[in-house]
Amino acid sequence: MSDPFPSNPFAEGNFAPWLEEEDIPDLRVEGEIPESLRGSYYRNGSNPPYPPGPNYHWFFGDGMIHAFHFEGGRCSYLNRWVRTARFAAQRKYGAAIFGGIGPKGSPDPRAEGVSPNASNTHVIWHAGRLLSLWEAGPPHELDPITLETRGIHDYDGDFYRVRADQRNPDVMTAHPKIDPDTGEWIGFGYSPVAPWLVYHTVDREGRLTRSFELEAPFPSMMHDFLVSAEHALFPIFPAVFDFEATSGAGLPLVWQPERGTRLGVLPRDGRVDDMLWFEHEGCYSFHTVNAQTRGETVIADLFIFPHGPLAEGPETRPPTLRRWTVDLAGGGLTEQQLDDAPAEFGCVDPRHVGKSYRHAFTLGSVDYRNMKGQPEGFNSLFHYDLELDRREVHRLGAGDVAGEPCFIPRAPDAAEGDGYVLSLVYRRSEHRSDLLVIDTQDFEGAPAAVIKMPHRIPFGFHGSWRPAGE
Ligand SMILES: [Fe+2]
Repeated sequence: MSDPFPSNPFAEGNFAPWLEEEDIPDLRVEGEIPESLRGSYYRNGSNPPYPPGPNYHWFFGDGMIHAFHFEGGRCSYLNRWVRTARFAAQRKYGAAIFGGIGPKGSPDPRAEGVSPNASNTHVIWHAGRLLSLWEAGPPHELDPITLETRGIHDYDGDFYRVRADQRNPDVMTAHPKIDPDTGEWIGFGYSPVAPWLVYHTVDREGRLTRSFELEAPFPSMMHDFLVSAEHALFPIFPAVFDFEATSGAGLPLVWQPERGTRLGVLPRDGRVDDMLWFEHEGCYSFHTVNAQTRGETVIADLFIFPHGPLAEGPETRPPTLRRWTVDLAGGGLTEQQLDDAPAEFGCVDPRHVGKSYRHAFTLGSVDYRNMKGQPEGFNSLFHYDLELDRREVHRLGAGDVAGEPCFIPRAPDAAEGDGYVLSLVYRRSEHRSDLLVIDTQDFEGAPAAVIKMPHRIPFGFHGSWRPAGE
């Protein structure tokens, strides 16, 4: 096949899938991988195995995991598709049998009865399991070394058993938060079906401890949420599911900024009636950074678009980092823009999730005149020191595109933000990828190590780190 994916922008350039599975035992390295960096970096992304239809959207390709294993200053690589039911069905027919989105993307009849779970969005290590995540179905468990798919992880059947009478049996999140003190995994789910919102928690042993419905004000596409040590925060943006008002291609969403944005604040151990709601002007966010509770004040940092998701046109703007401050004692929600440079896909020191924190690492762009927030525009990595109100920039070469940063502490007792940032970078001029290891003590300088891939790795979504020995 000379050009197997010819008809869609999400199948061209570095969006195009990588169609080989391989093992590379010892990648070439420029610089030095720190000896203390021992463990595995995983990244998930959308990677359709067969030419999809014209209505294909990047959000709906089959998940492929790329793994980089670090040991003794060396790095090996392998990649595998997640063996979902839909992947197996496509292999059986040798064709893409799932369409895109909207009526024009209706699936092939051969997809009838096959779960659409693409398992393509995130991959995390929790309670001794490597889990590939999708937000409309349960995780898939993978072998952390070989990436062999072990199967659907349904929490020993509890995922469906405890919610058998609910209207949204399949909702999950691709953006759980892990409490650094308790090891608890906190998640949510959203749905076009009332009551539109679900809350999940899993304890450090991997047992599903909560999974119940909440009540949202309207059915919103909410890709991420926030957690502090005391609260779970549910941002409801006015990108509203409406299957009657939408037709043809695209997500079944209408942008209704007049509804405003709502933030639900739930005590982590609360029930439906404990949710407090706060109002804000209509805006949109795909991704959050971190939250903290200080007495009666809750602080939430997230990337905000001033308009609806996936908008295109002269009025579209890239997302920027903003801080919401919520007064639980009867005040409202106020917003502060922390920086005017475009930023997205952020992380913090995992030991500070849900807590007071100072350092955040994000994708960024410093010359963004024509940049609307698409992945191609993120030509830098940012380090925000929120205490000093300062931004450091790790600028890539011309045409290069950064991947989501992943922060790893230098040592268990290192200061917050002292460690390494990994980022899978696309080198446009070479049509190839490198994994950067940036020392945060010299964030703007040359990377400590550039791990050279012999080929490109497609633009993807999210990744994370598993320390060796866990
Ligand atoms: Fe995401």
